[in-house]
Amino acid sequence: ETAPIKDHFGRVLKDLRISVIDKCNFRCTYCMPKEIFGEDYVFLSEKELLSFDEIIRLANTFARLGVEKIRITGGEPLMRRNLDHLIAELANIPGIKDIALTTNAVMLTKMAKKLKAAGLERVNISLDAIEDDVFKDINGRGVGSSPVLKGIEAAKEAGLGIKINMVVKKGMNDSQILPMARYFKGKDIILRFIEFMDVGNHNGWDFKHVISKKDIINTINEELPIEPAEENYYGEVASRYRYKDGEGEIGVISSVTDSFCGTCTRIRLSADGKLYTCLFASDGFDIREKMRQDELSNDALEQELTSLWGRRKDRYSEERTEETQRNRKKIEMSYIGG
Ligand code: GTP
Ligand code: 5AD
Ligand code: SF4
Ligand code: SF4
Repeated sequence: ETAPIKDHFGRVLKDLRISVIDKCNFRCTYCMPKEIFGEDYVFLSEKELLSFDEIIRLANTFARLGVEKIRITGGEPLMRRNLDHLIAELANIPGIKDIALTTNAVMLTKMAKKLKAAGLERVNISLDAIEDDVFKDINGRGVGSSPVLKGIEAAKEAGLGIKINMVVKKGMNDSQILPMARYFKGKDIILRFIEFMDVGNHNGWDFKHVISKKDIINTINEELPIEPAEENYYGEVASRYRYKDGEGEIGVISSVTDSFCGTCTRIRLSADGKLYTCLFASDGFDIREKMRQDELSNDALEQELTSLWGRRKDRYSEERTEETQRNRKKIEMSYIGG
């Protein structure tokens, strides 16, 4: 056992977010707009993807360096074949205390039970509107909310913990803030509102599209009174609010108006084996090439990861200005998984 490793600002490494595929069955306008991610868009090839063995090796090494929490993302992670096999192996790694998955839930009706049996504990499900017409326009595939609600039902039946992620963008789905809150209140499901972020290069982000945490809280509180609650774990991304009538809680993820870089303990692994020390990083560290070409020993691999984290100075959300937002080359959300 080594002590947890620290970055340039003393932040420890606790979470590993693993993207297992860059494809998705949706084309959400703010993430994978159809005009860019069309028929002829070139996704990663089988050869480029990390194998399960490679992912497991990295996860094992990260666990030795102090990582306790693993999140599987995509694109849509359920599109990666045999994902349950990967989860079963990740669940066996000593030191890993929490395994979760971020998904649009459409494929959960078929897979929830298998995933739970493999060792998955909880899922965060993206749903940006409850009203069909609004949701159809967002996901770019004309899918209404019911396939997602069925996925949520399947997750519940399988015994998975559930949170719902709703990205709030002005003019897109602000009409849905209250309908979503009403729908999930009292259902033992945590709904989290996410400020629209300037991730990627194609979603036309502008500050005027952002509905702030403060506005979201006020909107909810007017109809459904809430009060702040303590964080569940150090560095939790969402601020929690509980309904005063005891019917559960909501969360708000405010990377734009109230950033949380100071407690950021997360590293991200892309499906093709690049490590990103920030969601907004321009470049990744190609660990796949190192592993494939240099026949890296476990010690040397550990050394590479320790030194990569040690060099880390990222705190993009705290530094965000018109200038960085416009002129920085950024990775796509669908490539790095949020
Ligand atoms: P929990 O473990 O359930 O708290 O999940 P999570 O909120 O960490 O992960 P999830 O994949 O559900 O992400 C929810 C939203 O938070 C997405 O929009 C992510 O892009 C965003 N998010 C997660 N981690 C970070 C981060 O380190 N920085 C920023 N800016 N956004 C993040
Ligand atoms: N801003 C905020 N959240 C986003 N997501 C995708 N794109 C953005 C964005 N630009 C969300 C997805 C999913 C999570 C991983 O990130 O809806 O819930
Ligand atoms: Fe797919 Fe999620 Fe991006 Fe929508 S937000 S296109 S569901 S990865
Ligand atoms: Fe962490 Fe970067 Fe997000 Fe800040 S912007 S919380 S450093 S991933």
